[in-house]
Amino acid sequence: MNEQPAYRADLRIDVDAIRHNVAVLSGSARESGARTMVVVKSDGYGHGAMTVARAALESGADALGVAAIDEALRLREAGITAPVLCWLYAHGDDFAPAVAADVELSASSVDCLERIAAAARRVGRTARVHLKIDTGLHRNGCPEDEWPDLVSAAVRAQADGDVRVVAVWSHLACADEVGHPSIDRQAARFQRAYERARAAGLDPIRHLANSAAVLTRPDLHFEMVRPGIAVYGLDPVPQHGDHGLRPAMTFRSSVTMTKRVEPGESVSYGQTWTAERAANLALVPVGYADGVPRTLSGRLEVWLAGKRRPVVGRVCMDQIVVHCGDDVVREGEEVVLFGPGDRGEPTAAEWADELGTIHYEVVTGMYRPRVTRTAVDVPVAAEAL
Ligand SMILES: Cc1ncc(COP(=O)(O)O)c(C=O)c1O
Repeated sequence: MNEQPAYRADLRIDVDAIRHNVAVLSGSARESGARTMVVVKSDGYGHGAMTVARAALESGADALGVAAIDEALRLREAGITAPVLCWLYAHGDDFAPAVAADVELSASSVDCLERIAAAARRVGRTARVHLKIDTGLHRNGCPEDEWPDLVSAAVRAQADGDVRVVAVWSHLACADEVGHPSIDRQAARFQRAYERARAAGLDPIRHLANSAAVLTRPDLHFEMVRPGIAVYGLDPVPQHGDHGLRPAMTFRSSVTMTKRVEPGESVSYGQTWTAERAANLALVPVGYADGVPRTLSGRLEVWLAGKRRPVVGRVCMDQIVVHCGDDVVREGEEVVLFGPGDRGEPTAAEWADELGTIHYEVVTGMYRPRVTRTAVDVPVAAEAL
């Protein structure tokens, strides 16, 4: 029998889970007559933008969304031809490469729109533009009182052939708080902005819904939805019921050494944990440099040899120590720090709760220089046999 490969610090990305989640989300959107733009910004929330983009486009996504122009261009360089929207710029960003690569661009101000139009003229092609209205999040997006000017500028630029306005869009502040009054307030402002654009002669689609709104507000699906976190199998509204999502990321390592300690012996820096009775310990070569938060020292559990076991003593830069009681574990044995939770292992959502943050931050921050990332695509591999 082949030995399992021993991982030092590895992110296993379950491609089939991503496909499943996209099918769930795009299926729900389709019931409302909406298309699906899958958000793959920040390297696909840490899962690998290309892997996610390809899996998403195979399983129901119509378009991709990213924050930065570089992220959009990398998708194009990887051969992805589906529509890609990019929505956040650094001051002075050059739009020409994006227009040349047929990347759709968001505009939140007349100045931004004019710079996109100028880039389109330079490149010699029409830029596809999504006008963003600020409906209450107050980050980017055009303030309501500037919207008429932005719409007029867009009508002119469209008449000149520099841009084509393909969408009016916005982003929700509290979609994950089901029933929050701001959701309807934002939706009403959104509708007003859309009607103003139509009255001016534009014919855009609308997109507003992030994952939470896809799952809880079908009335806000409009012509397109824009899920991110749920694509990765992490539920932004677990209080709303089970949406059948499958977490795609597993963070795993393996035992590199075992030893037995006697009562009274302590473990790791600061000797914060002392054995009350003799115990077997397993050394695992991951630490805070690999994304295991040191602040979880004394509160972390891992899945090892069929059960959850506590990590004892401080999390170090490169190592943690797992308490195995009297169980004998093998060197090379897999250690799961978090995963989908199917076997009883900790999940990214549990880490987030312990850390006082959201699972978005946990998964997005995991891919680091010393951490490998392995996309595992079981059904396709099986078909290939
Ligand atoms: C503009 C925009 N749309 C959609 C999303 C996807 O949101 P979520 O990951 O909550 O589905 C994001 C992510 O933050 C976003 O910034």
